[in-house]
Amino acid sequence: MINYTEKIPNNVDLGRDRVLQRALEHWQPAFLGWWNDMGPNESRSYDVYLRTAISVEPDGWAQFDYVKMPEYRWGIFLQPRDEKREVNFGTHKGQPAWQEVPGEYRSTLRRIIVTQGDTEPASVEQQKMLGLSCPSLYDLRNIFQVNVEEGRHLWAMVYLLHRYFGRDGREEAEALLARRSGDTDNPRILGAFNEPTPDWLAFYMFTFFTDRDGKFQLCALAESGFDPLSRTCRFMLTEEAHHMFVGETGVGRIIQRTCEMMKENKVEDPLDVRALGVIDLQTIQKYLNFHYSVTLDLYGSDVSSNAANYFTSGLKGRFRETKLEDDHVLADTSYPVSEVVGGKIVTRNVPALTALNERLRDDYIDEIADGVSRWQRVIDQAGISFRLTLPHKGFHREIGNFAGHFIGIEGEVLSEEAWKKHQFEWLPSPKDYEFVQSLMTGRVAEPGKFANWIAPPMRGINNKPLDFEYVRFN
Ligand SMILES: [Fe+2]
Ligand SMILES: [Fe+2]
Repeated sequence: MINYTEKIPNNVDLGRDRVLQRALEHWQPAFLGWWNDMGPNESRSYDVYLRTAISVEPDGWAQFDYVKMPEYRWGIFLQPRDEKREVNFGTHKGQPAWQEVPGEYRSTLRRIIVTQGDTEPASVEQQKMLGLSCPSLYDLRNIFQVNVEEGRHLWAMVYLLHRYFGRDGREEAEALLARRSGDTDNPRILGAFNEPTPDWLAFYMFTFFTDRDGKFQLCALAESGFDPLSRTCRFMLTEEAHHMFVGETGVGRIIQRTCEMMKENKVEDPLDVRALGVIDLQTIQKYLNFHYSVTLDLYGSDVSSNAANYFTSGLKGRFRETKLEDDHVLADTSYPVSEVVGGKIVTRNVPALTALNERLRDDYIDEIADGVSRWQRVIDQAGISFRLTLPHKGFHREIGNFAGHFIGIEGEVLSEEAWKKHQFEWLPSPKDYEFVQSLMTGRVAEPGKFANWIAPPMRGINNKPLDFEYVRFN
């Protein structure tokens, strides 16, 4: 169970480590200051029907109740330790999992933790204003739930920094509260986390695509030979599942509503669809193209010696590493990566160790494709002939082998000029954003009511009805 009697709820026996406890109690007000500045706008006094973790066991870890968000019990929760756990890959394979940071990997490991940690507050900052235009109380509660849990994920990484990295760790923990998404002087570390999330379609796309990148990174780190990182990530993954649920069902409900209106009114032309106050499928496709391509960049370069080092050192594994049937060392295997040669995309095999970013990206793409086909089913069931597709992997990329090239949606290698001619057939134009935002000018705050552009969900939260008062504004 989690100890909630302490100032910082935890299941790591924080009370026994006075120095660490004091350091974290020092960081806590700074975190709250950041939340008040950068957390959901004007939300301080709201009572929100939130879940809070009460135990890290898989069964019934959540408790639901009204909470004011600044009073949310952020804390430190690690999956229980498995005494027999080993390093499961790389050159240290078979050694007992590390309970302390191996000296030689200290700076690398710190970098990995900081990069993960930086994404957590970033997404809260990106979503700061969305509460003001929510389509329902149900959706408002969901974004707040995601936001407080991203705050907790920040706590998770900050715990590791404080507990295992001494003064350097404390400095990094402070810097995590100082960077700001989209800031020109002090931006967040990764590109996608500096993009604006200007509307609710973007928010749902973000939680479907970018939170799923979070899942895959956490899965890879959950395999880490550094046991405290592994245990932290395992618990974070249980929270991440909800974020992706919010994204997948959110986009699905928007598609459903659009299809219903198209059927009812017998219209297909995007302009006619827009006139009904719903988002045309073409615009949804453009948002999909944007979020997919920006998120693919988060996996890093297709060929990467860093990725090889992380793996060989036992710091970051592959997706489902221990379920894979190979030698977990990968010295003699190869993996295909794509690149542009002479105006064509070609595939060549490279040493598998150097292609681990690409491999994780491919695992991610498989899961994304499944989700998109579930959205497609909504369109098919409505009897509408429109196909949602995933763009080519090289489309609109800024990192890796495709960076600097102009790849079309189907993988055609184009000149910059030709690409730009099609740009707004593929990506949302300023006018598209303007239209979507024109639907979301105020919030729908009456219990049980939903904005015209989105269908209600199948069921409420924690078996509550759809007209439950998920947020009280006071
Ligand atoms: Fe997160
Ligand atoms: Fe998340």
